[in-house]
Amino acid sequence: MADLDVGGHAEGFTADPYPYYAELREAGPVHRVALDNGDLVWLVVGHEACREALNHPALSKNWQDSVYFGDVVASAVNHHMLESDPPRHTRLRRLVAREFTGRRVEAMRPRVQEITDGLLDAMAADGARRADLIRSLAFPLPMTVICELLGVPDLDREQFRRWSNEVVAPSSPAASSWALAEVAHYLGELIEDKRCSPGEDLMSALIRTRDEGGDRLSHEELVSMAFLLLVAGHETTVNLIGNGVRALLDHPDQLAALRADPDLLDGAVEEMLRYDGPVENSTFRFAREDTVVAGVPVPAGDAVLVSLAGADRDPSRFPAPDTFDIRRAPQGHLAFGHGIHFCLGAPLARLEGRIAVRSLLERFPGLARDPEGEEPEWITGTLIRGMKRLPVRW
Ligand code: HEM
Repeated sequence: MADLDVGGHAEGFTADPYPYYAELREAGPVHRVALDNGDLVWLVVGHEACREALNHPALSKNWQDSVYFGDVVASAVNHHMLESDPPRHTRLRRLVAREFTGRRVEAMRPRVQEITDGLLDAMAADGARRADLIRSLAFPLPMTVICELLGVPDLDREQFRRWSNEVVAPSSPAASSWALAEVAHYLGELIEDKRCSPGEDLMSALIRTRDEGGDRLSHEELVSMAFLLLVAGHETTVNLIGNGVRALLDHPDQLAALRADPDLLDGAVEEMLRYDGPVENSTFRFAREDTVVAGVPVPAGDAVLVSLAGADRDPSRFPAPDTFDIRRAPQGHLAFGHGIHFCLGAPLARLEGRIAVRSLLERFPGLARDPEGEEPEWITGTLIRGMKRLPVRW
């Protein structure tokens, strides 16, 4: 059994977990590890083993059936596809996929550019020529985009961010339950409003949509879907921009190469996702029955975490994995997951990431880390990898 604490309390682990994952990977693909609350879970490292686990028919996403979370009460926002197995998952995903189409994402392009330009204008107006990139760009861009997409432009974003942060990195079980109840109430009212006065937005479309058989989303499913899209839509993309720009600024040769040849942009964003992606470990899965994952027996009811960060630094899949190389073409990275729960928002995330990075570099030729800014502070918990602040200057 490994004595790794993936909850972030092991010294240095949160700032740089990659050496720990490498050590584990060398010892084998699946390990029993302790979370910061003392719970033991199975952690899958290794690229091939992670792909297997993400697509494993005996690993369930429906935690409400699991003894592991026996004393946790489901809230009104838990009825979503990332906490469902087929056939429910298939049904929920099919209904949203009818409306959250490539065309809808592509139609957002001019608006994503416009929002980015507005944020960069505000940043450039700072006479001190320094900013916190998370606050100035990485957070407000995806938050504004997802709110406009869903049709909640006047959402109190700071309030929503506090709720959402509590959900992905809870400060305590009570605080997390409070946040879930608040957010469920807010979204319930919002959906009722939209039912009365629908618009062209995704939420109105989801309320309206019916498949060929007449199936549609229930009120609870709509609340949960809105919650999932709002949280997944910004908690992750903020860290694509934050971690990605940090990687570029810390590797001046790569930054210079990208500045010299903007055609490298799409590959650079993929490498940012591989090298230091926003989702460090998948959401929990549970063994529905006694099963075997990458050759290791996992008893029924046990919880399993898939280390996307471990997978994407596996030297058997990516040569010299700790090197940030924007020319490497890292196809097959697992930053967006794999299998039936593969990220529904990947096209939107890529669109935002590419526009943000390109526009930022064009606008600020002298962009650099700010050595006088506050020390970066890392988000704790197993799910998200990212910084709370990224001080930059130009
Ligand atoms: C760089 C940004 C993003 C990253 C790295 C990311 C990553 C992921 C990952 C790893 C999963 C699978 C989790 C698991 O299997 O445990 C996932 C699922 C999901 N993501 Fe994303 N995501 C991003 C942006 C977005 C955006 C912008 C949206 C929505 C607008 C979104 C919506 C979803 C949804 C709905 C699911 C659940 C899919 C399912 O259960 O079938 N994501 N994402």
